[in-house]
Amino acid sequence: MKNIKAIIFDAYGTLFDVNSAAEKCKDQIGDKWEGFANFWRTTQLEYTWLRSLMKRHKDFWKITEDSLDKSMKAFNIDPSMKDELLNLYKVLSPFKEVPEVLKNLKEKNFKLAILSNGTPDLLNELVKSNNLDNVFDDLFSIEQVGIYKPDSKVYDMPINKYRIEKNEIAFLSANTWDVSGGGNYGFNAIWVNRNKNIFDNLDYKPNFEIKNLSELLNII
Ligand code: 2OP
Repeated sequence: MKNIKAIIFDAYGTLFDVNSAAEKCKDQIGDKWEGFANFWRTTQLEYTWLRSLMKRHKDFWKITEDSLDKSMKAFNIDPSMKDELLNLYKVLSPFKEVPEVLKNLKEKNFKLAILSNGTPDLLNELVKSNNLDNVFDDLFSIEQVGIYKPDSKVYDMPINKYRIEKNEIAFLSANTWDVSGGGNYGFNAIWVNRNKNIFDNLDYKPNFEIKNLSELLNII
């Protein structure tokens, strides 16, 4: 991949393991923890898309709490676990290869940024709690534009900040719909397919599909 000036990463699910919150509580939750974690994540994303379509914006932290409420009822999880689960979401773990790959890319002088549904506070805390705060040039939050991915105003942010062309950006996401959002917008969108998922039919097919971020170093 040539003429890349900036590498932009989705956060939740791409750099940080969204299921690591529920996984830390799996002893208290029991065998249903993975089904619960997936239901919570799906509900959270559905709420972002529905609120954008209804033009009834609420920030990602409030949506994470609202979707947790529904998921705990659906899976009959003890309500006393709510605060623990929510607070774990603030300190999700990065996937194991992430710190090393980011450090390597930083040394190659690319602009590095996160572009996420997360609020500025959430993104700052995520990055700081994982000692990644000196890696990124920017943490772009959708709160700056008041609408969720995959609205094009979200993908405009790094273009407006760096004054570069859409095809000079490599955009990485594990979320297939976000890869299509960035790809249809004009980025070189790369799919981080960690779990052998199936891609969508949303008018875009990524030129590159990688199993983890280590493979990025071979294509950038
Ligand atoms: C993020 O924006 C898509 O939730 C994912 O980080």
